[in-house]
Amino acid sequence: MDRAFLDLAPCGPLRGALRVPGDKSVTHRGLMLLALSEGEGRLFYPLKAGDTLSTARVLQALGAEIAEEGPHFRVRGRGLSLKEPEDVLDCGNAGTLMRLLLGILAGQEGLFAVLTGDASLRRRPMGRVAEPLRAMGASIEGREGGKKAPLAVRGRALNGISYTLPVPSAQVKSALLLAGLFAEGVTEVVEPVPTRDHTERLFRHFGLPLEAEGPRIRTRRAEPFPARDLTVPGDFSSAAFFLVAALVTPGSEVVVEGVGLNPTRTGLLKVLQEMGADLEWRVLEGEAGEPVGWIRARYSPLKGVSVDPALIPLMVDEVPALAAAAAWAEGETHIPNLSELRVKESDRVRAIAHNLRALGVAVEEGPDWLRIQGGGVQRGEVEPFHDHRIAMAFAVAGLPVGVRVWEPGWAEISYPGFFGDLQRLCAGS
Ligand code: S3P
Repeated sequence: MDRAFLDLAPCGPLRGALRVPGDKSVTHRGLMLLALSEGEGRLFYPLKAGDTLSTARVLQALGAEIAEEGPHFRVRGRGLSLKEPEDVLDCGNAGTLMRLLLGILAGQEGLFAVLTGDASLRRRPMGRVAEPLRAMGASIEGREGGKKAPLAVRGRALNGISYTLPVPSAQVKSALLLAGLFAEGVTEVVEPVPTRDHTERLFRHFGLPLEAEGPRIRTRRAEPFPARDLTVPGDFSSAAFFLVAALVTPGSEVVVEGVGLNPTRTGLLKVLQEMGADLEWRVLEGEAGEPVGWIRARYSPLKGVSVDPALIPLMVDEVPALAAAAAWAEGETHIPNLSELRVKESDRVRAIAHNLRALGVAVEEGPDWLRIQGGGVQRGEVEPFHDHRIAMAFAVAGLPVGVRVWEPGWAEISYPGFFGDLQRLCAGS
């Protein structure tokens, strides 16, 4: 079968303002909590893309009513008891959906559900969520000793536990907090390293039990709770591609408006500034407990840096974009602490190294690190490895000189219209 590709011409300066689609993490969580609420609530400016449409479909199969109203969703929740689905639940490519849903389903007493997904999702580790949920009393079976999807869940009575995250994962934290809403006693998650805190902020938005004390986050059984409207900020992870595109393309100036600036997501801004990036941002308002504002990026000669390992969990989805910036920086960039990138939608350490080489950039790949020799890229062809962020990051890396992107459709998983927005801002193309 012929594979699709997109040839991007060398881009002149990127100029202008844009709004990126809604935050993927907040959209998944907003839909889930509205599905568990009583009455009707609206989700304004959600992400409507592959991953979050999977969430909407799965929640419909569990009895929530979800209708599109122009750009928004109107959700009529089921309250705390979901309906047993009639068929297997297909989570598509969405790890957040599968992991958080396991937490919700584990405590739906008597309900039986089977969760599956695409080839990438069926390869990803689910034991990290299933094991602590089993410690709470959950019944979860699956392939490879219960570690891989398809997974079968039979809802049971749960008990709260205290669990220290062995890997920094907001998805594991969130799955346990969601399960805690159905458990007897207190459920405590201890996170030695902070990760994105959208679940905690949304629990507060919906008035659900939540206490956070340093690294300890606690919840307990929820009472039925009413729906509340919420507005989804623009996705910082989507904005990151345009920030880097502007930084590496001479003469550029781009402003991203209405974007989420949650400090557990914006580690990339710090690293780019250290590299010499001309970046400015301002928080203007809060939406659903999330800080929202604008970011301006201007073309900047960048220099290589050694990235602080503690920043990686605060920019875990932005490493492909950072690699694109590093390719254009003067000198060497060392990115440590990448073991989690091996188990994302693709093995991103490998995918980054492959595509940098395809663009003529020297790169060394360790088990959990990358060393990138900057200095610019050559025209080449990039391969997304079925991974939306790899497609977008390497489109940006090759943009100043022109690039062929194979299977560009993967970008639609989190950013429908990405290539259109990119070409619109490329004044010189
Ligand atoms: C997410 C958490 C991160 C991130 C993913 C979305 C979330 O995954 O990579 O894209 O919404 O909680 P981990 O929790 O596995 O680090």
